[in-house]
Amino acid sequence: MAEHTVCKAEELPDGGMKLVEVDGIEIGVFNCDGELLAIEDRCSHDDGPLAEGDFDPAACTVECPRHGSIFDLRSGRPRTLPAYVPVETFEVSVEDGEIKLQVD
Ligand code: FES
Repeated sequence: MAEHTVCKAEELPDGGMKLVEVDGIEIGVFNCDGELLAIEDRCSHDDGPLAEGDFDPAACTVECPRHGSIFDLRSGRPRTLPAYVPVETFEVSVEDGEIKLQVD
């Protein structure tokens, strides 16, 4: 498990999303009304750019821009078809005012 710095905490306000690349994996880091969550930016259905879809901070979900599956950002599980396989999630924390991502 390796820790990567995403950005300063104030650079990712409530309702914000930041895309980062760690070891060749694109990861979307989301601020769901204060709760920081991260998922792989690759839809389990057909590799759509998941983190770039419509983000609903109140529901803590993102909608795949390719075919519209809605994913729960906490679990990585799709709530609607056509995707049915969860995407990978990553642990996020704040240390010394910086957002950190844990990636295997
Ligand atoms: S690629 Fe995401 S729903 Fe099809």
